[in-house]
Amino acid sequence: MRALKDRRILLGISGGIAAYKVGFVARGLRKAGADVRVVMTQAATKFVGPLTFEALTENPVGTDADFFHTGGGVSHVEMARACDLIVIAPCTATTLARLAGGFADNLLSAVVLASRAPVLLVPSMHTAMWQSHAVQQNLARLDPSRFRVMPPEAGDLASGDVGPGRFPEPQDILEQAAATLGPRDLAGRTIVVTAGPTREPMDPVRLITNPSTGRMGIEIARAAQVRGARVRLVLGPTEVPPPRAFDDASISVVRVMTTQQMLEATQAALQGADALVMAAAPADQRPAAPRPGKGRKKDLPATLDLVTTPDILLTLRPALAGRIVLGFAAETDDVEASGRRKLDEKGLDLLFANPVGDGVGFGARPNEGFLVSRDRDTETVASRTKADLADFLLDRLAERLPTSGGTTH
Ligand code: CTP
Repeated sequence: MRALKDRRILLGISGGIAAYKVGFVARGLRKAGADVRVVMTQAATKFVGPLTFEALTENPVGTDADFFHTGGGVSHVEMARACDLIVIAPCTATTLARLAGGFADNLLSAVVLASRAPVLLVPSMHTAMWQSHAVQQNLARLDPSRFRVMPPEAGDLASGDVGPGRFPEPQDILEQAAATLGPRDLAGRTIVVTAGPTREPMDPVRLITNPSTGRMGIEIARAAQVRGARVRLVLGPTEVPPPRAFDDASISVVRVMTTQQMLEATQAALQGADALVMAAAPADQRPAAPRPGKGRKKDLPATLDLVTTPDILLTLRPALAGRIVLGFAAETDDVEASGRRKLDEKGLDLLFANPVGDGVGFGARPNEGFLVSRDRDTETVASRTKADLADFLLDRLAERLPTSGGTTH
């Protein structure tokens, strides 16, 4: 989400029921460090009050009352110049028609017409309206070099119907906004990311696992997609949702359960990939002989025979030659030294080593540690969110990718 920091974003709101959800978009943009100016159509102000957005953005809200007022105020031309990106959410059929037809009969459409900034449209309407000939024709009339459209999601609509037309999650809108603003420094690259724990069953209801949530890898997958990469995410069992793909090619997710399955899925995903980010925490051991049935507690053995699971990085080492590989090490002692040892042992280019224990380092909490690398001195990484850490690590990975772009594998 770094692409949003210090950027001027004009958030246009038109009159649909989804307008009530846009507060979360405004808040998310602010949290990401953007300067947000809201412009509401007259219809939008019937759904939500401008005061809500004034409070959320700490900026005055532009409405049609200002536009048709003769004295003072910021003109639509000034607003049009003073933005890096226009996001219109929700974009109703009427606002879309205004934009497609080049109308300037309210503040929002006049600003869009007078601006050269890219526009991200988030249409949200009833399925029948979305699928109507008029709406589809209007979409086709937009200048594709300037307008980017997030197709509405299928799901439950406010009308009680089910179908395409739903307003997306605010997080997905923020990601699209960040992707529109760039940089797209990973465009043309394919990056495999593993994330989450694995589970090794003792029987159908008991298992060996660890507290990894998969958040670090999921944030890396998210940031890589925003920066233009094609991402193949191999994801262990976790409740944390993977990022939503921008299009058919941008993210694929393969769900796995055991370390062996993760190994096989990662191997398959490496075909034609430029880099591997091994953020998963695969279980190191599995029960030697999982029982097929649940079994009663009183019948359980007092000890469990275990065997070591394959080390994914070591097993795949021959296939990793020529690709940039970033590993992770969660350590309780000698964090940096252990990280460097693992970097060497596993033949990695980069490894992020961070302290863990007592809940530190797991889940949604910020992360800090050391970035050890094959070719440079260790970097100490101060505490930051996993989203910021993801961008930082991708910077270091991107620096090491061959400049020719694409891959020869
Ligand atoms: N890793 C792997 N295959 C495994 C276990 C770990 O590829 N079966 C990867 C992790 O995804 C991580 C790196 O190896 O990128 C280091 O993981 P870690 O668990 O710290 O290392 P181990 O090799 O398991 O070492 P140890 O448990 O002895 O500290």
